[in-house]
Amino acid sequence: MLQKSPFRGQVVIVTGASSGIGRELARQLARQGAKLVLAARRVERLQALAEECRALDGEALPVPTDVADEAQCRELLRVCISEFGGVDMLINNAGMSQFAKLAEMPDLTLFRRLMEVNFYGVLNCTYYALPALTASRGRIVNIASLGGYLAIPGASSYSASKFALVGLSDALRMELAGNGIAVTLVCPYWVVTELNENIIDAHGRHYTELGRSVYTKRMMSAERAAEITLRGAAKRKARVLMPPGLPAVLTRTLFPRLTDWITHQFFIRPAVERAKKHDDKGLLDNL
Ligand SMILES: NC(=O)c1ccc[n+]([C@@H]2O[C@H](COP(=O)([O-])OP(=O)(O)OC[C@H]3O[C@@H](n4cnc5c(N)ncnc54)[C@H](OP(=O)(O)O)[C@@H]3O)[C@@H](O)[C@H]2O)c1
Repeated sequence: MLQKSPFRGQVVIVTGASSGIGRELARQLARQGAKLVLAARRVERLQALAEECRALDGEALPVPTDVADEAQCRELLRVCISEFGGVDMLINNAGMSQFAKLAEMPDLTLFRRLMEVNFYGVLNCTYYALPALTASRGRIVNIASLGGYLAIPGASSYSASKFALVGLSDALRMELAGNGIAVTLVCPYWVVTELNENIIDAHGRHYTELGRSVYTKRMMSAERAAEITLRGAAKRKARVLMPPGLPAVLTRTLFPRLTDWITHQFFIRPAVERAKKHDDKGLLDNL
């Protein structure tokens, strides 16, 4: 089975590789014999992952990168091309989340930071990867979210950044088809990772265990999310909506007001209730 992997020997950049879905993508690609460039800010984690990937059959190069910084993304691509001679697949996975009402934000600094990481981070890496991807007739894989189709109350910055990413991905798919580059938009629902514990509030404080308490046993693992992502990327699919994606997106298109209500009643409210049980500081009192 490993012999058949379309990723064997391919040069793949994974942003946000130090944790969660990105780390799992790297592990699975390493097992399939890919040459990995691992990007994120936490260097020690990247170095440990690179060692693990080498032991699993891949090549791996950690490149500390803040994707919000355009110059660092340009450097990421330069290092990748100089070390491995090109790029076959760019997985734009790095992301962060915020749970805060707009009116509670002291200013717009953190709202802009969400856009800088989740949207411009993708744009920065994609722009500098385009010549190499055109040469390889490669793949771009953008990890957005179902939150890029169904807005989340209390997470306007996250929703805005992911809606923007959906638009960018759809436009680029058509624009780059002539260059032979496939653009795959991936929209997970809730996946058990560190994203929720690192969610920031209006002031940039992490929700930590409150964020973790939102997860239930039924939610998807990072391993499964990575498997689904790579299967879609291998087939050069346009869009990968993880459950309950397709019915949710169709319902939103046909019945937008009803979908707002369902999102609030059946997804957000129960999650906030679960978190409130652990909220001894009253951080969620006004939600
Ligand atoms: N978990 C979910 O429920 C879920 C659902 C839908 C979509 N997603 C999306 O899936 C993607 C991966 O998230 P995850 O769930 O795996 O979360 P995670 O475990 O928190 O991983 C996020 C990754 O992004 C990196 N990152 C954050 N800011 C960065 C920056 N400025 N520059 C470079 N790297 C940065 C982090 O590394 P460093 O901190 O080391 O930089 C980390 O490796 C995100 O785009 C997220 O929006 C997740």
